[in-house]
Amino acid sequence: MTSAHLDLEAEETPDVADDGVWLTCIECGEQHAPFDDVIYRCPDCDGLLEARYDEYAGFDDFEGSGVWRYAAALPFETGVSIEEGNTPLYTVPSIEDATGVADLRVKHEGMNPTGSFKDRGMTVGVKVSERLGVDRLACASTGNTSAALACYGARADTEVLVLLPAGKVAAGKVAQAALHGARILEVDGNFDDCLDVVSELADRGEAYLLNSLNPFRLEGQKTIALEILEQSKAETGEYPDRIVLPVGNAGNTAALYKSFRELVAAGDMDEDEMPAITGVQAEGAAPLVEAIQSGAESVERWEEVETRATAIRIGMPVNAPKALPGVRATGGTAVAVEDEEITAAQRELAQDGVGVEPASAASVAGLHKLREQGVVDADEQVVCLTTGHLLKDPDAAAAAGAEPVPAPADADGVLDVLGE
Ligand code: F0G
Repeated sequence: MTSAHLDLEAEETPDVADDGVWLTCIECGEQHAPFDDVIYRCPDCDGLLEARYDEYAGFDDFEGSGVWRYAAALPFETGVSIEEGNTPLYTVPSIEDATGVADLRVKHEGMNPTGSFKDRGMTVGVKVSERLGVDRLACASTGNTSAALACYGARADTEVLVLLPAGKVAAGKVAQAALHGARILEVDGNFDDCLDVVSELADRGEAYLLNSLNPFRLEGQKTIALEILEQSKAETGEYPDRIVLPVGNAGNTAALYKSFRELVAAGDMDEDEMPAITGVQAEGAAPLVEAIQSGAESVERWEEVETRATAIRIGMPVNAPKALPGVRATGGTAVAVEDEEITAAQRELAQDGVGVEPASAASVAGLHKLREQGVVDADEQVVCLTTGHLLKDPDAAAAAGAEPVPAPADADGVLDVLGE
């Protein structure tokens, strides 16, 4: 295991706890006050921080709907909210047939208010920024984080700055950030370069960082796991065996594992019931897959990355120290897929009525590959996570779909064109 301090039950509530919440460094175990100063990494060793609680919530503690149904597992009772969460868990009959998986569902996070799962992190993260009293929010983004931050920042009436890799962000996402009033800088570099710059700005106190390096973002994203588990249990009587998801910064991968550990601590899940966390990356941006497949302790940054799935065009998954142990401890794996396989999966999802952006379809493309490799069994209960809506990337959708055909403005002419 790469990180020593992931055992929630081993920890005592420290003096620095605030309302039963604190931050623990997953590398050195040092405990820090959550809301006194702005910190993103451990001031002692630079390790990643994780939010910890004096008590862990179980399913009996949840009430209401959406992300804040899970307030008992979050640092606050309410957040800066536009009713995020409560997304559908769809059946996908034709993909079930095509993959031969007997029980396959798709958790469509594209159905969140800004069209991606990022809203779950922002409703919590922007609330923390209010508590800290900061006056500017910032992120680096492949698009969706910037759209969500712009929206939630507007809702909180706080200035937002977003750094985007120039020319590599899908049109819908830039449009959202623009309309919600963010200052948008298009940086001559890739996402990882943008994150380097915005992290330095945050360290200099110029802005509050709301990338998934911020541990509170992942608290909100835990609710994806909680919803999947509740929905699966209600529909099938069981927790799923496996959750397959696209990986960029590995924030969701880390958040799923944290949620499972908390449920174990609450007594609502046995360790061997944790769904196998299964990550999918594009072949052109697959550093986490490389680490999982080689058994490495840590991820090596890829300087050159390329994929049609621009949302996950990332060479250094910042949450890898939290995510690698999660994939391994749950018996999961990671796999890389070609862009063509991603587009094929995007079409396949669309045929089942589920419209997603390319990165989202990576989960289904990965499932196909793992079935072909014999890694996933036919009798597993599988959930694929689709992270963003089709309209996020209209150019990719148009390119993957059917060509419009010109037609005259009369019925006979239309029938002629149809060849009928
Ligand atoms: N899918 C979509 C649609 C995304 O936008 C992202 C990340 C991911 C998957 C990967 O999730 O980082 O938790 O592994 N998008 C970020 C952004 C990087 O800036 O919008 P992860």
